[in-house]
Amino acid sequence: MSDTAQLTYKGKTMEFPVVEGTENELAIDIKALRASSGMITLDPGYKNTGSCESAITFLNGEKGILRYRGYSIEELAEHADFLEVAYLLIFGELPTKEQLAKFDHDIKAESHVDEEMKKILDGFPKSAHPMGVIASLTSALIAFNPSSVNVSSEKDMYHAIVRLLAKFPVLVSWTHRKRMGLPLDYGDDSLGYVENIHKMMFKRPNKEYQKNPLVIEALDKLLILHADHEQNCSTSTVRIVGSSHAGLFASISAGISALWGPLHGGANQAVLEMLQAIADDDGDTKKYMAKAKDKEDPFRLMGFGHRVYKNFDPRAKIIKRSADNVLGSLHMEDPLLEIAKGLEKEALEDPYFVKRKLYPNVDFYSGIIYRALGIPVEMFTVMFALGRLPGWIAQWREMRLRGEPIGRPRQVYIGETLRPFKKLEDR
Ligand code: SDX
Repeated sequence: MSDTAQLTYKGKTMEFPVVEGTENELAIDIKALRASSGMITLDPGYKNTGSCESAITFLNGEKGILRYRGYSIEELAEHADFLEVAYLLIFGELPTKEQLAKFDHDIKAESHVDEEMKKILDGFPKSAHPMGVIASLTSALIAFNPSSVNVSSEKDMYHAIVRLLAKFPVLVSWTHRKRMGLPLDYGDDSLGYVENIHKMMFKRPNKEYQKNPLVIEALDKLLILHADHEQNCSTSTVRIVGSSHAGLFASISAGISALWGPLHGGANQAVLEMLQAIADDDGDTKKYMAKAKDKEDPFRLMGFGHRVYKNFDPRAKIIKRSADNVLGSLHMEDPLLEIAKGLEKEALEDPYFVKRKLYPNVDFYSGIIYRALGIPVEMFTVMFALGRLPGWIAQWREMRLRGEPIGRPRQVYIGETLRPFKKLEDR
């Protein structure tokens, strides 16, 4: 018999079951609340509301813990590669050699993107933000892959999943290359998943592609660190769009748009722009710290704070270390990294940030590495989407296989009560 929680209102006491997760998280199951009380809960931003039960990712914000299917992010970043992690997130177990080989084969078999898609890309001005382009292209994939729309069997889902994992990186490379005035290219099936992404993005038409294992390793690690993060804004978007039984591609396209916001994935671009603004302002970090604390100033210290982490974001710690290693191994220096480290130090000693438990998040240092890898700042959030793709897919698949109901929250109406229509001449 599970525990229960009681709610008493105007002398009437109602009991609700308490659900306990495998990591001892507790939730009050209020499925029967409205039927038994006529009341609903109110929780803008869902800060206290669980939307689902999930077996994919576990976060402990107080302790700064992140695990994918029970494996710590630190071990996965150290020992796994991105394709293995994608398989783990989506299917629940680390793949055997045979499973990984089949997964890789099935993805490569789907890596062609219809040439007609290039006409859609051509319709965008070069000034278009890549996140808007990639969201549109992902949605446009539906038209060229109709059998991937109404998928309800695991077999059909698998086919849609490998198609998207295969085609999305091609669209990312096309989006990047179009902006750089480079010819659009296809991948190289002889390469690994992440090396293929790097080659598709950066191969110059008149030069041999030079493989740099350090760059591929750094990119692979970054993609792993971004791969999933339980019910964040964009993942919740993917789930709620998918809950209407909209197809996988449409659900992911919606998630990409949600990720674009500067409060979410768009923060990695905003961080770099903020660090550059500070650098252009004689490195005056104190001025920007003051702006971040000034309630009259809408400026926020981008890359700081988190809805769940009230301790260090474990990904930020790994990325910060990796930034030093990548710059060192590429014999590069980036003054923005030093500014970022100075800001972090100041914030971690500042009562405003300490009181609110604001620490660097995944977006604070990632842009330093993307920049060192030659990725333009406007493409940073697209790289976040590339990393988050397997997580979105895993969450969409879990939601569909569990037969979750269509997402349809309620509200508390605070508008006008009933009033008679007023003719135009009487207004
Ligand atoms: C991601 O959810 C996920 O898991 C997301 C993500 C993922 O992997 O999917 O981790 C990726 O989106 C990381 C977050 C990237 N965004 C940023 O770096 C933008 C800057 N951060 C903030 O906007 C903010 O911290 C959020 C949006 C991340 C979290 O916002 P919350 O949880 O709604 O917190 P809040 O806005 O209520 O802030 C609480 C207090 C407020 O001050 P008071 O009203 O209490 O006085 O902290 C302040 C805020 O003003 N605050 C900040 C701040 N973040 C919060 N003040 C200055 N600078 C900041 N960055």
